[in-house]
Amino acid sequence: MSNILSGEESSHQITTDVLIIGCGISGSIAALELARNPDVRVTLVTRSQDPLESNTYYAQGGIVYTAADDSAEILAKDILRAGDWMNNRNAVDILAREGPNLVRRILIDERGVAFDGSAGEAKHHRTREAAHSRSRIIHVRDATGKAIQDALIEAVRTQPNITLLSANTAVDLLTPAHHSRNRLAIYEPLSCVGAYVFDQRRKCVVTILSKATVLASGGLGQIFLHTTNPEGARGDGLAMAYRAGARIINSEYVQFHPTAFYHRHRARFLITESVRGEGASLVNASGEPFMRKYAPEWGDLAPRDEVARGIHQEMLETGSDSVFLDLRSHIPAERIKERFPTVYNNCLEYGVDATKELVPVVPAAHYFCGGVWVDEYGRTNLRRLYAVGEASCTGVHGANRLGSVSLLEGVVWGYRAAQHIAANLSEELPVAPEDIPFWQDESVAGYPDPVLVRQDMTLIKHIMWYYVGLVRTTPRLARAMRDLSVLREDVNIFYHTQRLNDELIGLRNSVLAATVITRAAWANKESHGCHYREG
Ligand code: FUM
Repeated sequence: MSNILSGEESSHQITTDVLIIGCGISGSIAALELARNPDVRVTLVTRSQDPLESNTYYAQGGIVYTAADDSAEILAKDILRAGDWMNNRNAVDILAREGPNLVRRILIDERGVAFDGSAGEAKHHRTREAAHSRSRIIHVRDATGKAIQDALIEAVRTQPNITLLSANTAVDLLTPAHHSRNRLAIYEPLSCVGAYVFDQRRKCVVTILSKATVLASGGLGQIFLHTTNPEGARGDGLAMAYRAGARIINSEYVQFHPTAFYHRHRARFLITESVRGEGASLVNASGEPFMRKYAPEWGDLAPRDEVARGIHQEMLETGSDSVFLDLRSHIPAERIKERFPTVYNNCLEYGVDATKELVPVVPAAHYFCGGVWVDEYGRTNLRRLYAVGEASCTGVHGANRLGSVSLLEGVVWGYRAAQHIAANLSEELPVAPEDIPFWQDESVAGYPDPVLVRQDMTLIKHIMWYYVGLVRTTPRLARAMRDLSVLREDVNIFYHTQRLNDELIGLRNSVLAATVITRAAWANKESHGCHYREG
């Protein structure tokens, strides 16, 4: 494979073998696997200033591995049951069979992630999360994502054939059918030849042409008022793929994590499910445990959708703003500090000492179980476009994700997509560089008014939280569709008449992602997993 590409490199155009959008666990693993071949040039872009910043970084609980009395069949059954049997069985089998070996090889052996108790493989401490029938989750205290992301980005930085571009926001995927100067390109099957990418520092759009493109841009929790996700999770990947003609599936399945820290005036943050796995319990405002009422079999460790709805119901019945996690009665203070330092310190920052006090919690948008349809190699329905991680939908999660499976899916599909790309990479770019025009924005006015952008974003978040949230009804969804359609028109006009910046890109994507989810929720009258309709 030659790394000499056709086309001129210029400050407005880059050519590369593989473009990867997003550098969380799935994007970084895909990049590192591809970079094993020194002749393959990988360009990894992230909208964050700091490439550590991603959903992966904030994952607390851990990653699914194995237990002594475990098997691929038992893991698969747990995943299917949590997903309300709406999962893609083939994808679940692949994940359950291949996942633990890849975790060992890539994360433990190659990247040296120091999972707790890693003196020897058999000694890794295994924790449990909701709806797991085995304690099979390995972790780095309660900051597993951080440890993984640190290790992966460190490796990425040392690879000479990976170019890491931070503060670069993908604007749109390039498809000859939509973008080529050659009008006859519309007769070809849809394919992806790279992306327009906004360089936040230079404030200009660069054309990146590639032989293969991997969408690894994460999720969309930020389109909801309350979320555990960082600011970049705003549906960029979903919206770009949708505009390019990719098939989007399972969009109604947005998972709400049952336990985000509640503070009237502050952003939510995650309180890992593994605190319940290690004994903590949920209690209502009167201090009474309540989950057995809603999930007699599992209680506090019921699947996330059931716990989130149980909390919602309990809050309605008691008229309380939150319920509470009781760690102090079940886990010794020293153990809380040592095992859950992130939770302990974050709570302390907001004035709650989890070793002595109850921790107020509410559900918050956490994970998008739908996404860009992909096959077992991460291929989408567009040629040369792959999707991995939360941006994609392999069908592994079905209607509701089992805890700590998302990082595992990122490992498995990051790896599989890379293998497939490496085996099929063409010698030449699939498009003549001169056929794709540079970005044009001379005709537009100034930069968008930040007040308008923020207010539109706030509107989206409110619509999604109240009308397309935990409990959905026909009148709420109808209202959401109407409000979003008006807003989408306004935002489109705004987008086409202003100079581009990261916030405007995010707003355009968020309103489209919200619309896609709402339409899917509207269309599916059946309640399954985290899509719950009361009418
Ligand atoms: O509760 C948690 O630690 C979340 C884990 C996950 O989303 O998989």
